[in-house]
Amino acid sequence: MESTPATPTLRDTIMKDIQGAVRLSVAYIGLSAGLLQAAERLKQADAAGLAQAAGGDLGYVVRWCDAAYAFGLLDETPGGFVLTDLGRAFLPDAPGTLMPFAVQEVLTAHIAERAAGLTKTGERPGEAVLAERATILPWFGPMLEAQFGPVFEKTIMPALPVYERAAAQGGLVIDLGCGNGWYLMRLARAYPRLRCLGIDGFDENVRQGQARAQAAGLADRVRFAKGDIYGFESPEPADIIALNRALHHVWDEKETVFRILHDHLKPGGAAVIWEPHWPAERAALREPARRMVAFQNLTEHVQGNHFLQPSEIAAAFRGAGLVPEVRGFLEGREAVVVGTRP
Ligand SMILES: C[S@@+](CC[C@H](N)C(=O)[O-])C[C@H]1O[C@@H](n2cnc3c(N)ncnc32)[C@H](O)[C@@H]1O
Repeated sequence: MESTPATPTLRDTIMKDIQGAVRLSVAYIGLSAGLLQAAERLKQADAAGLAQAAGGDLGYVVRWCDAAYAFGLLDETPGGFVLTDLGRAFLPDAPGTLMPFAVQEVLTAHIAERAAGLTKTGERPGEAVLAERATILPWFGPMLEAQFGPVFEKTIMPALPVYERAAAQGGLVIDLGCGNGWYLMRLARAYPRLRCLGIDGFDENVRQGQARAQAAGLADRVRFAKGDIYGFESPEPADIIALNRALHHVWDEKETVFRILHDHLKPGGAAVIWEPHWPAERAALREPARRMVAFQNLTEHVQGNHFLQPSEIAAAFRGAGLVPEVRGFLEGREAVVVGTRP
């Protein structure tokens, strides 16, 4: 039987997709090699000027400039290349930066290639896959921060009374699996009496957290340390223990984790668990705003994890003797489940 050829419409759709993906790859190289940042600092520069400012190889930078020009990240003027508005929008400090999309695209390509092979063998190599690409790892924390920091600050933090209550007592917030520390940094700035401790298993994250607490003059109230969630021991009973996109990493031993949460909270203290809301119905995954989570769950599978439904988290809280309250954010795509110790 002859297969049906792709219609011009299908071909057009896919051509746009591939060009979008390649545009993000070009942006990623520019970010990772510091070329977009150098173009912003220099305002106008030729490839040699950009290579020198970013500390890169001229041969590569010439080809990158061609690609960045082709995909509209750079314009050419008589005085050299200049960033376009689009190029500038990828800068990590740009308001509403597009940087996370570029990082996500390259991470996606890496995981897709790994998953293609692993699907044959069934192996699940764990979190080490994230560290297999040396340039991606340092962008992982900033990517998550740019994606979720603003929604935390504007929507979630003001909606949950637990932070205000803890701050009133000069309380302790512990963030388990804290990444680069963005969550605690935001809490510490918003609530000057809160004390914060971030724990993460990756050295790079702990280093980034410590450096930013130091730089912000908050190191007396915000500490970061390397540690394992499974064996966590709190220095004192905590007012809040948060896990942001970290619970699904340790769900395989959820009884241990929820016992740790219970035992390290003060009576009246709360565990605050933020996870993407894995929908009960597959049809919801077709919503454009939810599609990415379907692929990310494949990424999680490679790492030995899977995303959770809020009802599963609530049930685990009840099992550990904590009283759960499920809150939905971003049209229900993000779930925060607060478990209070009676
Ligand atoms: C998806 S990241 C989320 C990071 C951060 N909470 C955020 O929202 O940006 C999950 C984090 O959990 C950490 N993690 C996973 N398992 C861990 C464990 N057993 N002990 C300590 N950290 C762990 C990882 O190193 C990673 O930083």
